[in-house]
Amino acid sequence: MFQKTRLRLLLAYLGIFASILSIFAIAVRTVFVHTMTNQVVDKLTTLGQTVAASSGFKNGRIQVADNLSVRDLDVQRQALQWIDIKGNTIYIQGNRTLSLPAAIRESIQIQPSKPSLISVNIPIVDTYNRSLVGYLRVSQSLEDLNETFRKLDIGLAGGAAIALILVGMGGIFLTRQAMRPIENSFDRLQQFTADASHELRSPLMAIKASSQVALRYPEGMRPTDAEEFKAIARSAERMSRLTEDLLILARMDKKLKATWESINLTELLQHLVTQFQAQALEKNLTLIYQSSGSLMLKGNSEQILRLFTNLIENAIHYTPSGGKITVSASLIGQSIDVKVEDTGIGIAPDQLEHIFDRFWRADTSRSQWTGGSGLGLAIAKSIVEAHGGKITVTCELVGSCFTVKLPT
Ligand SMILES: Nc1ncnc2c1ncn2[C@@H]1O[C@H](COP(=O)(O)OP(=O)(O)OP(=O)(O)O)[C@@H](O)[C@H]1O
Ligand SMILES: [Mg+2]
Repeated sequence: MFQKTRLRLLLAYLGIFASILSIFAIAVRTVFVHTMTNQVVDKLTTLGQTVAASSGFKNGRIQVADNLSVRDLDVQRQALQWIDIKGNTIYIQGNRTLSLPAAIRESIQIQPSKPSLISVNIPIVDTYNRSLVGYLRVSQSLEDLNETFRKLDIGLAGGAAIALILVGMGGIFLTRQAMRPIENSFDRLQQFTADASHELRSPLMAIKASSQVALRYPEGMRPTDAEEFKAIARSAERMSRLTEDLLILARMDKKLKATWESINLTELLQHLVTQFQAQALEKNLTLIYQSSGSLMLKGNSEQILRLFTNLIENAIHYTPSGGKITVSASLIGQSIDVKVEDTGIGIAPDQLEHIFDRFWRADTSRSQWTGGSGLGLAIAKSIVEAHGGKITVTCELVGSCFTVKLPT
């Protein structure tokens, strides 16, 4: 019963931790990439400024000596590109020049595709008349840096995966510890409900028996006393039913293994329908049973009987005079579908989700007259689930249709 809650808690815990971890990894990566890129830009700027300062000019144009050799230039990974004011390349040194057009107004350019490069544009100023004569574009391959980022990504992803596995294992332990007190108190509550319902049976039987005995000799009592005794007998009857229902639910919750046997469902339903014929007739209802062949089922016959009793009882209770109730069973694949359809008052769409809740009843004004407690469908659902099946309800234009799917 607490399995789902435990799993939901664990998933929520893992979800929160994964989000925090992702934010942390993204922040670390962003800071690292930013710092490393800035370092390269600073290095290229220093190199570019040194070279640009020693550039020659003639008539306002850059002059580069053919045998120029720059000491700090790593020709395999870097390149220098002199560009005049019109954007024409005058001279290149080194192997790594950008294939992008010289965007001289941008001081930093990045070429993301292979070969991945970064370049810094340094303005070259004629020191005599202080006019701009061109640019020096200093480029460097980003392959080494990208390799470092790739290793960082692998490290972060691997670390995050290991952290998530460890947190998951810790989470299983923590959720188990956190749920234990709740599970224990729930167990105690179930035990209390079972014990209380069991203990209430005998005094209730005694009250019922005593009032019935008293009613057998009404001559010696006033007519009002007789009415009182009848009311006592009715209330005792209702309370016995309620305690019986609570006891069944408590036992179902505790998942006590009931004995399973082979059940002839066709026979069981036929018998049940015959049993309810008198009650249906009393309310002027048509109650019919339809089935294809003999359907066999594995389960607890007492519980299966209780399940369909509750559904047929409801159909009779909530169908006004003149209505029709159809009980049908058929084999569909590996399971048996039993439908209990009626032409009664139906259930409002917004109430369908509550229909199987314990003590839930549609607005009391309309269901008051049945005197029920709202446990019938909760019991039906528990029984169906204990048998590995499913119960659903649909309400078309008229009445309701309960479908029970049970594995064979
Ligand atoms: N066939 C039906 N048609 C219309 N409403 C229904 C039908 N079956 C159940 N309901 C609604 O669902 C509610 C819950 O049903 P459930 O059988 O659990 O309780 P109950 O019949 O009120 O009491 P009891 O515990 O005695 O069965 C009912 O009060 C009724 O409002
Ligand atoms: Mg009912």
